[in-house]
Amino acid sequence: MIRTALCDLLDIEYPIIQGGMAWVATGELVAAVSEAGGLGVIGSGAAPPDWLREQLHKTRKLTNKPFGVNVMLLSPYLAEIMAILLAEPVAVVTTGAGNPGKYVTALREVGTKVIPVVSSVALAKRLVRSGVDAFIAEGMESGGHIGELTTMALVPQVVDAVDIPVIAAGGIYDGRGLVAALALGAVGIQMGTRFMCAEECTIPMRVKEFVIRAKDRDTTISGTTTGHPVRCLRNKLTRKFDEMEKSGTPPEEIDDLGVGSLRLAMVEGDIENGTVMAGQVCGMVKKVQPSREIIMDIMNSAESTLSRLNNQVV
Ligand SMILES: Cc1cc2nc3c(=O)[nH]c(=O)nc-3n(C[C@H](O)[C@H](O)[C@H](O)COP(=O)(O)O)c2cc1C
Repeated sequence: MIRTALCDLLDIEYPIIQGGMAWVATGELVAAVSEAGGLGVIGSGAAPPDWLREQLHKTRKLTNKPFGVNVMLLSPYLAEIMAILLAEPVAVVTTGAGNPGKYVTALREVGTKVIPVVSSVALAKRLVRSGVDAFIAEGMESGGHIGELTTMALVPQVVDAVDIPVIAAGGIYDGRGLVAALALGAVGIQMGTRFMCAEECTIPMRVKEFVIRAKDRDTTISGTTTGHPVRCLRNKLTRKFDEMEKSGTPPEEIDDLGVGSLRLAMVEGDIENGTVMAGQVCGMVKKVQPSREIIMDIMNSAESTLSRLNNQVV
């Protein structure tokens, strides 16, 4: 089986991280992924501190393996979320939406590895100075908030720009994607969209079926004009976003339309009026599978991809 520097860095069996997904990555999914040998990551998003405490306790009841928490640096509860993570340390904190600089030393002092998500070389270069352990370089094929570069272009440029490990994310579904990421210089992968359809993921079945029905071109990007682009599945809400963006509605009004809409989809199951974040690999997601099966499928297909490549090269 393929083993990389990421396995040693995070003390995991397989170089696969389940991306922290707000309202999606709860304790059940996180524990299942970590139990299966990957790294599960709780998505704390903009959820209140009590929600995070509950997920931490749930995860710890279900697994003794390492797991992580994704912290959204724009969370209105950021200070409280960080206080919890310093009092009840986890193995890994991944961060999105900004610069975790002022928290890095404190988190590392309690034994937590800090891994920011970056979408550009400039951000990686800025953050590397704060002593972070690795980066997740996420391309715009991914579900959720996105940057401008594709995974194929971004990953090798970040790898060349910094001297710490880089994990590739965005548009990865199976072992072909894992091998491609390793070829680009990454030490492992982070996936979100495929894990939405893990059996242990607690989002409503209606949302999973929506992802499974989706084809390669069924995602769209909302919020380009407001500076907060989000990749999600096309529905009534994205059509409304499109109309507002085309008619020149003020950015604040457009952003307001998105408030609470992720929860509406992922908790209430409203796939028409909610934001169903999902990436371009949705076209490959065909069924609900246990997390262990997803991870073993990636690892086995990575092995067969490698032998196919070996046979092709003369
Ligand atoms: C439903 C959903 C919610 C997400 N929420 C977050 C989040 O709260 N924080 C974050 O850093 N990334 C978030 N992401 C990005 C994932 O963690 C991961 O990096 C991404 O899904 C990888 O690309 P893929 O969707 O092509 O697998 C989200 C992705 C999805 C699909």
